Amino acid sequence: MLETAFTRLVSCTVPIQLAGMGSILSPELAAAVSNAGALGQLTFAGIEVDDAKARLDRLASLTSKPFGINQLIPYLNRDILELSAHKAKVIDFFWGDPDPELVRIVHEAGALASWQVGSVVEAMAAEKAGCDFIIAQGVEAGGHIRGTLGLMPLLAQVLDKVSIPVLGAGGIGSGRGVAAVLASGAAGVRIGTRFIAAAESNAHPDYVRAIISAQAEDSIRTNRFEVECPLCPSTHGVLRSALDAAEAYDGSFVAEFEGEPVARFRGTVPTKGFTGNIGAMACYAGQSVGEVRGVQPAAEIVAELAEQAERLLKGTATATV
Ligand SMILES: Cc1cc2nc3c(=O)[nH]c(=O)nc-3n(C[C@H](O)[C@H](O)[C@H](O)COP(=O)(O)O)c2cc1C
Repeated sequence: MLETAFTRLVSCTVPIQLAGMGSILSPELAAAVSNAGALGQLTFAGIEVDDAKARLDRLASLTSKPFGINQLIPYLNRDILELSAHKAKVIDFFWGDPDPELVRIVHEAGALASWQVGSVVEAMAAEKAGCDFIIAQGVEAGGHIRGTLGLMPLLAQVLDKVSIPVLGAGGIGSGRGVAAVLASGAAGVRIGTRFIAAAESNAHPDYVRAIISAQAEDSIRTNRFEVECPLCPSTHGVLRSALDAAEAYDGSFVAEFEGEPVARFRGTVPTKGFTGNIGAMACYAGQSVGEVRGVQPAAEIVAELAEQAERLLKGTATATV
């Protein structure tokens, strides 16, 4: 068993947090991760209160284990925040200056607050704002990248400067990655890309196929996918094939969803239900993409990562986590 300050804090048994991943996450995926002993999450961004309530109820009906709700600051809706904080164990924030007022709202509702950060300055601000734990995101990550450092140099600084539990995120797709981050003194890991091909994920099948056939080197950093994105300008970790396909695309719209066209280079991630040139959409992927080798139930992914990490840590001089 990999008991850490994070597992004790959130009452789970595996030190893995499912990353916020927008509409890729389904209540089924979040519940499967929580039921497997890690911390499942859903992202609420740009949705209506009724929709958030229905998704929260669905998730709560699928698991009695702790779960989190991820909120992106540019999309923050106070009603959804209050609602979520009364039902979730953790409210997880990303993409904004750490805010003591938001942390206070979360704590008053009885939940824990976490903040994904991209620099040591932001990490210290999150601790000062009252967060219960933070996630240090390295540039190896898929999706929107907050900072400029690789995970290990960032973690080394952050772990020296804050005293709350720290998770590492970005490029972690194997038990080796989990073990390395735990051995550095972090209390857990946050993983996104590895779960895109989970059986319960809402990712479009063409995106899943592209993720499965990609190698680590196929994850590139670009700032091209920023059309109509309130989080941009930003750098993103995406599949090289998506950038190439969007560059080569001759037209204004690459795809559509329920009759709504998707502009070329829009930062929308392809979920089930999109039609068109899916491979030219924002197929986010971290350097962990090389570890995705097929569609697997989320529980199997969690078990595989935890077992390998535990085995590796037992075989090293720093077996105590
Ligand atoms: C498809 C995708 C969508 C993402 N969307 C979000 C999001 O909505 N909220 C968030 O906090 N982070 C988001 N991220 C970033 C993750 O929180 C995390 O930093 C990243 O997945 C870690 O790197 P990894 O993908 O190599 O595991 C996203 C990442 C991916 C791959």
